[in-house]
Parts: sequence; C-alpha cells; structure tokens
Amino acid sequence: MDQHLTIVNHPMVQHKLAYMRDENTSTNRFRQLLREISQLLAYEVTRNLDMTTKRVKTPMQEIDAPIVAGKKLALVSILRAGNGLLDGVLDLIPSARVGFVGLYRDEETLKPVKYYFKVPNKLDERLVIAVDPMLATGNSSVAAIDMLKEAGAKNIRFLCLLAAPEGVARMKEAHPDVPIITASLDDCLNEKGYILPGLGDAGDRMFGTK
Ligand code: URA
Repeated sequence: MDQHLTIVNHPMVQHKLAYMRDENTSTNRFRQLLREISQLLAYEVTRNLDMTTKRVKTPMQEIDAPIVAGKKLALVSILRAGNGLLDGVLDLIPSARVGFVGLYRDEETLKPVKYYFKVPNKLDERLVIAVDPMLATGNSSVAAIDMLKEAGAKNIRFLCLLAAPEGVARMKEAHPDVPIITASLDDCLNEKGYILPGLGDAGDRMFGTK
C-alpha cells in the first residue's frame, strides 16, 4: 500500500456509519453495525496482499490457483475499543494471529503508559494490522505502533473507523510508513480530544458503559 490515508467511501460502509453516529442507536445495534462495517474495512485493508499460487485440481482440470502468500497475518487490538473492530476483521480472516496492546493516559504527563502487551511471535515476518476505532489525537496510536516496531514489526497497517485530521497528521509525522485505512476523515477534535462530528466515546457506545 503506498497511499498514507485511504478513506473507504463504499455506500454500504457510509450507510452503516451514519447509523453508528446516531446517538439514538442502541448498544446492541451499535455493536452489530461495528461488526458489519469492520468486515467491509477488513476487505479494504487486505487489498494488495502478496499472492502466490497453489496447485489445485478442480473436477475439470488442474490449475495454479491464487492464494495469499506469507505467514499468517497478525491483528493487534488497541484496548479496549479495538476489540470492537477485531471481531469483524476476524470474521473475514479467521486464521489471523491476534495481539493486544493496553495503554492508559497518565493524568500528570498526559503521555500513554503501557499496562498490557502481548503479541504473536515472528512479528517481523507478518503483516501487522493494528485496529482502533478512533484515531483522535494520535497519541495512543503512535505509542502502540512504537511498541509494535520495538517488538520487530516492519510491515504495519492501521485500521480505524473514524479519523481526525490531527491524528492523521501526527501518525504521518511519526510513522509515515504505516498506511491508515478509515471509513471517514472527520472535521476536527474538540477541546477534550473527541472527534467532531464523530460518534462519541466508541468504547462506551459498544460496551454500554458511561
Ligand atoms: N475516542 C473516542 O472513543 N471517541 C472520540 O471521539 C475520540 C477518542
């Protein structure tokens, strides 16, 4: 993937996103829509995978049929909201390996602090897809990608549902080699770091917390 930002403006993605943004959408429906939309985004994020062939005998003849090359890819969920995207992506790529990165924001330094990190082995040989629904300030995304690179990852893509221009710029500065795939580039952040127009707190909306 050579483009830094890809916006998936497929009608089905945009339609589902409109219902996810609606504050009257229930937790149950929000989760369901997120699962559906993440399957569609997974389709886009896996575009241009390296391919090889496998000798297959159909009932009619033998052919070299195209299959995905290389080691099984690794999905890495940035906790906790990343888990909402993870389920749908796993529907499309059930054999993927899965890792988790947990970060919280230190109230004094405002810097992301790692509290959990568990990723598949041989990260350097895999395509790593980091998932987090909201690319807002970009602080936690940049920190998570830093950690994945420290763990050996060389080929990383970042999948999110919504992105703010501020977060995209921050990621481009820190990790220009990591393409971002999103359903929408929204307008801006508010003073509390929420995306506008956004959809509110993604974690709260998918897990029914407040
Ligand atoms: N995280 C969220 O859940 N929502 C935002 O708008 C920004 C960050």
